[in-house]
Amino acid sequence: MIVLDAKILHSDHEIPQPWRMPALYLMGMASDANKTFYLETFGCQMNVHDSEKVVGTLVSEGYRQVSTVKEAGLILYNTCSIRDKAEQKVFHRLADYRKLQAQGKRFGVLGCVAQQEGEKIFERAPHVAMVCGSASYRNLAEMLVQIEAGNSRVTGLDDRQTDKCFETEFTSRLNPHRGYITIIEGCDKFCAYCVVPFTRGKERSRTSESVLAEARQMADLGYTEIQLLGQNVNSYADPSEIRTFAELLTAVGEVPGIKRVRFTTSHPRDFGRDIVEAIEGTPTLCDHVHLPVQSGATRVLEAMQRLYTRDEYLERIGWIKSAKREISITTDMIVGFPGETESEFEQTLTLLDEVGFDGVFGFKYSPRPNTPALRLNDAIPDGEKARRLAVVNERQREIQQRRNQRWLGQRIEVMVEGKNDARGQWIGRTSQNRVMNFTVPDGRDPAPGSYVTVVTTGSFPNSLIGQAEIPGEGEGSLSWTARK
Ligand code: 5AD
Ligand code: SF4
Repeated sequence: MIVLDAKILHSDHEIPQPWRMPALYLMGMASDANKTFYLETFGCQMNVHDSEKVVGTLVSEGYRQVSTVKEAGLILYNTCSIRDKAEQKVFHRLADYRKLQAQGKRFGVLGCVAQQEGEKIFERAPHVAMVCGSASYRNLAEMLVQIEAGNSRVTGLDDRQTDKCFETEFTSRLNPHRGYITIIEGCDKFCAYCVVPFTRGKERSRTSESVLAEARQMADLGYTEIQLLGQNVNSYADPSEIRTFAELLTAVGEVPGIKRVRFTTSHPRDFGRDIVEAIEGTPTLCDHVHLPVQSGATRVLEAMQRLYTRDEYLERIGWIKSAKREISITTDMIVGFPGETESEFEQTLTLLDEVGFDGVFGFKYSPRPNTPALRLNDAIPDGEKARRLAVVNERQREIQQRRNQRWLGQRIEVMVEGKNDARGQWIGRTSQNRVMNFTVPDGRDPAPGSYVTVVTTGSFPNSLIGQAEIPGEGEGSLSWTARK
């Protein structure tokens, strides 16, 4: 049988590229036929969700989203600068379409690259008319008016000290089943390698009441899965001081109609036992924690300014592992941080063995503008970083191969995400965030967004395969619940 063994989930900074909003969502909104825009998003789920809100703002301003650059009057790129490759992509894209300026098309750069490069973008790509960092999205409507008035140098770059979050009346949600909700924006951690505190500004949380109101609204619209987002989602501090992060998780999990709640990304420093207790006590909270460790060596963690040691990280892993139901753990890892010795790298490998992660997103260290790590000596050559990354990936592949075998023969509930017609397989996701490719008995096709119980018949490092259980035939089998 041909199988698809896709990577089980995307790191919070890795989404399938590029991600485009379908115009379909926007039908029925009042718009001016001449005001069209095309938006392409690079980067993390946070960026994807920012784009959903940007689309909402533009549509409220009378714009209509189109799916090609050719049809658009305004072309926007929502960018990512977490590693240098992402940044390069945006400039390539801008260079590709430069000649279209002659047709009167306008270009705008949004997001992290916009914030990081600022007005320098106008020099490098003079056809760009708008540069706007994510902390300034609240001012987008005004900026659009300026563009329409013919201003060819519109900027939104000065808002990183803001206390306000970007809330929109209308959010154009891309995925009809899983809805993202930002609960905290920005980051105050300043890890030595990371641009995020410079591009997204200081940490600011939304009130738990406004988060819950949005969750209820989404449940009313038929969403059954909610993903709470933040660069450091568990540093959440309710401005109204009503709920802790763990209490907010529970409250979202108790919203009628919500079947699954996920949250990403957690910082180990702020990861308390109360989060594990919330998961244990609330069946709708998914059995998965993404807890980026970055390195297995305490000396490197200190140089990275991660604010925890290897042992403190392992202590948190211990809490997660002692939960009443099995919680899957995934992580991010950086190899080749300046000065990382061979023996420190070995400690990263032993950490992989000790924890037994279900997924690792490994990255070669990439020097980023403004970050403190730029001042460190002992750069590791790119070839050596690549070797270390390959070793991490190979070791982790073996671990996942072994871990996934444990699911053989087990019944697992999945949410149906789609179908791979070529393979005749449906694609589902388990609560632990694994991909399950499965077949169904003839004529019993499940609806995307419904929940199906699948018996696992095969396992691979990045996915499982199985066969759907027919409702009513399996022991205690679940019905194929369609969305409302
Ligand atoms: N170089 C390499 N990886 C990085 N990450 C963040 N900044 C860098 C950098 N400068 C990785 C971290 C983080 C993930 C989202 O991206 O592992 O957890
Ligand atoms: Fe970057 Fe560290 Fe903040 Fe995560 S916690 S966004 S890695 S500075």
